[in-house]
Order: sequence, then C-alpha cells, then structure tokens
Amino acid sequence: MGRIATAIDGQFDALLQVPDDARRELYEAMRHAAIGGGKRLRPLLVMSTAGLFNVDESCAIRAATAVEALHVYSLIHDDLPCMDDDDLRRGKPTTHIAYGEAAAVLAGDALHALAFGLLTDERTHSDPFVRAEMTACLAKAAGPAGMAGGQMMDLVAEKSKFDLQTVTRLQLLKTGALIAACVEIGAIMGRVPSDGRTSLRGYAHDLGLAFQIADDILDVEGDEQIAGKALHKDAEAGKETFLSLMGLERAKEQAQMLVDQAKSHLKGYGEEADLLRAIAEYTIERDR
Ligand code: IPE
Ligand code: IPE
Ligand code: MG
Ligand code: MG
Ligand code: MG
Repeated sequence: MGRIATAIDGQFDALLQVPDDARRELYEAMRHAAIGGGKRLRPLLVMSTAGLFNVDESCAIRAATAVEALHVYSLIHDDLPCMDDDDLRRGKPTTHIAYGEAAAVLAGDALHALAFGLLTDERTHSDPFVRAEMTACLAKAAGPAGMAGGQMMDLVAEKSKFDLQTVTRLQLLKTGALIAACVEIGAIMGRVPSDGRTSLRGYAHDLGLAFQIADDILDVEGDEQIAGKALHKDAEAGKETFLSLMGLERAKEQAQMLVDQAKSHLKGYGEEADLLRAIAEYTIERDR
C-alpha cells in the first residue's frame, strides 16, 4: 500500500503542476485533495487485478490514478456543506475549508475530467478498444446507475425509512460500483473478455459491500484521529445504514461473511491472487 501511495502521489504531482496564471488556486485545491493521505485502496485494486494478467505496471498505474481521481472528486463533493458538511478529510481540512466552496466544486469537476482524460490517453493503453471499454466502465460506475445515484439515495436515507434491500442497493451504488470498476478495469487492461470476468465481478461485488459496512462500523467505533475524518455522523443525521438496521454485532458478522464470500470467488486462482485475498481481509480489519 505504501508503494502504491507513493506512486499515486507522484502521478498527481506530475499531472497537476501549478501554472503561473489565474488558475493557480484550482490546481492548488486539486493538489490539496489528491496528494497525500488516503489508503489508495482503489488504485491497489486496479494494480492487483492488472497484475494477475501481467499488465505493464507503468500503464496500470495511470488507470489506477484515473480511478483515484474520480474517487477524490467524489470525496470533495461529499464533504461540501450541501452534502455531508465535513471539515476534516484524510487528516487535513476539507478542500472547501481550505480553498472555499467554489474552488472545491471546480477541483472536483476537474478531477472528474482528469479521470476520463487519463483513461482515454494512449499512454494508458495502446489499444483504443481497451481504452473505450475502460472509459465506459468508469462512466457507468460514476453516474446515476453508480456512485452519483448512490449518493442521491444516501441523502434520501436521512429522511426516509429504508429496508435492508434498499440500503444494500444504496451501498452497492454509492461505494460498490467504483470498487467493482477497479477490478473490472484491471481485467479489461489484461484483455480478459467480459464472460471471463464473472468470478472477479463476484469478488468485487462482495468486497464493495463489505467495504461500506466497514465504513459504517468505523463511523460508530472508529477513532477520528486515526480515521482522519469526522465520525459519529450517520446516526446523528438519522441516516439509515446497515448498522441502524441490523445493529453492530450482526453488521460485523455480515461483513466477515461477505469477505469470506469474496475470497471464495477467487478459488479458480492460485497464489497470484493472494494480494486480492489480503485486500479483502484488510477491508474489514482496517481502522481508517
Ligand atoms: C471513503 O473512502 C468514502 C467511502 C466511499 C466510504 P475511503 O475509505 O477509501 O477513503 P480514503 O481514500 O482512504 O481517504
Ligand atoms: C461517501 O460516503 C461515498 C462517496 C464519496 C461516494 P460517506 O459519506 O459515508 O464517506 P465518508 O464517511 O464521508 O468518508
Ligand atoms: Mg456521504
Ligand atoms: Mg461523507
Ligand atoms: Mg461514512
């Protein structure tokens, strides 16, 4: 994780050199949000899956940076006053606290665009069909049938009674879709045909759900200092989550079951998939 984090920081540093003109603050806000901190779990998933298929690392890291850029954009906007209204992210002031709301909105917009720019760049993959497929994959994961749709449901979850099925759908869209896209993109880069990705999709599906349950558990049990963000917000906002519906103990059991299930999808792979198995374990053991 440390190695990937350093590589991702390096990519963003190179991509976001601050120009000496009136756009300076936009670049600084983008750098503030994108460089330093964060687990870089999504890049790790792209790299680990691409690694299964011997994809060139210098190409895979560019796709990994694209997914992280999309993720960072989603965090900037998630923290805005009109959404979760948070002051702390990755142990630093949130982007709108540091640079103001307008620059934060634009930094999110620009990171969103940067993600697609990276995926469509020849240096990320030489085959235009692979680039188009990766781009379509991220677009779907980020849009109304993915992350943005899940974020909308999450806002509605503060005011409505959702049943377990609806909360599961919310989590799959809000968090699961982008996590699934990481695995999918790794396999696309490795030229695995769609019908050859079924077991990896199963893995990613279960991992995504376990990841968001762990985030909700952290919100209740975590240490703000270690997590680097404000906690205890979900219950305060009256938000329906796995925890509000099934309680802490059952949520923990459910997360463990999902991790076991995620790993069972990998049984067709040998030790080359050990990293993916370890990521699944880490997803629920993490304290940040
Ligand atoms: C936080 O994601 C937002 C969710 C989707 C739950 P991460 O827990 O991956 O945050 P960083 O990237 O490590 O900061
Ligand atoms: C955010 O979920 C998910 C996205 C940004 C898509 P949360 O609102 O639960 O994430 P945290 O807890 O602020 O990191
Ligand atoms: Mg939120
Ligand atoms: Mg939030
Ligand atoms: Mg949360």
